[in-house]
Amino acid sequence: MTPTTTATAAANPPLLLSDLLEGQTACHIVIAADELGWWKDLINGAREVVPATRLQRLLAQALHRIGWFEPASKHGYRMTEAGREVAFNRGFVRVTTLGWEPTFRALSTESAAADIIPAATAPDEVARGCTDIAHRHPETIKAIAARIAADEQPGTTIDLGCADGGRMQVIGELAPREDLVGVDIEVGVIEAARARLAGTDLADRFRLRAGSVQPGSGRPGWLDADIREDVTTAMTFFLLHQLATDSGGIDKVLTAWQDWFPNLRRLVVGDVVRAAGEHWHEQPWFAPTFEFYHAVTGIKTWSQKEYNTAFADTGWHVVEHHDADHAVFETWILER
Ligand SMILES: C[S@@+](CC[C@H](N)C(=O)[O-])C[C@H]1O[C@@H](n2cnc3c(N)ncnc32)[C@H](O)[C@@H]1O
Repeated sequence: MTPTTTATAAANPPLLLSDLLEGQTACHIVIAADELGWWKDLINGAREVVPATRLQRLLAQALHRIGWFEPASKHGYRMTEAGREVAFNRGFVRVTTLGWEPTFRALSTESAAADIIPAATAPDEVARGCTDIAHRHPETIKAIAARIAADEQPGTTIDLGCADGGRMQVIGELAPREDLVGVDIEVGVIEAARARLAGTDLADRFRLRAGSVQPGSGRPGWLDADIREDVTTAMTFFLLHQLATDSGGIDKVLTAWQDWFPNLRRLVVGDVVRAAGEHWHEQPWFAPTFEFYHAVTGIKTWSQKEYNTAFADTGWHVVEHHDADHAVFETWILER
């Protein structure tokens, strides 16, 4: 069963002190269980997990007492339905607890006397959390791959802000004639992606580059003549809102990318859109955290309407729209 991922004010009352205190501890417990591979195993159908050490037993007991595990045998535990929802969405826990922690920590320091805190992240944690988030709805990436695979002329798909290259890997497997390029600003993240993909059958169809995909003056150094000519599909996930803030509009970024890639025939954009609701408890979960993180880092969040207007203004039409993921998560496949 796919967990319900939206929340209404009625189902989501204002935060209580107990949510605050126990929520923080619960986040760390979720991440520790993730490090042990428990969530992945249980989601993939393992009947139970069996803690092997005293600390693992304490972890499992805590998960039981929270209500996310229940005993399955004398020493083993399985997930409850509530636990399944947490496991399914654990990438958000990782991004907000570990990935954005450096920014949230700076809220209380002297250096935060300025109007904004420059975004500071733990890039590997953000990359891993985003990959877990992407894995929640494989049908979205499969739909993208199906369109690419159906192209009469095979082309090259670029992922702008590719993190660990997980999405490109799926595209590469499902669209076997397509070549792939991944670009990310974090050198370490690109090195890790290169090491991981080197051992796969896809290695000779991949080009990975460290660099910025933010439009600026002139073309970026990683954009060589081959990549420029080759790219026919450009994808970007959970990054456009940030680039659009720095470039002064979504349309400005899209126009620049169209100039970078003269043979572009498809654009795929996935992003979080601004949610309705004044108070946190009136918004879908994650929306308050997403909006607060971006407010303190000076990054604008954009409405669905602003995305649609920019797509139309830059000559793209929406051929598929996937929004089953979450109330504020949108993926558009655009062609022209
Ligand atoms: C929120 S993560 C999303 C990762 C991935 N696209 C996904 O959805 O799983 C944003 C990614 O964009 C990268 N990034 C941030 N600014 C960038 C820039 N100017 N150019 C290229 N990559 C950038 C980050 O290093 C990070 O990997």
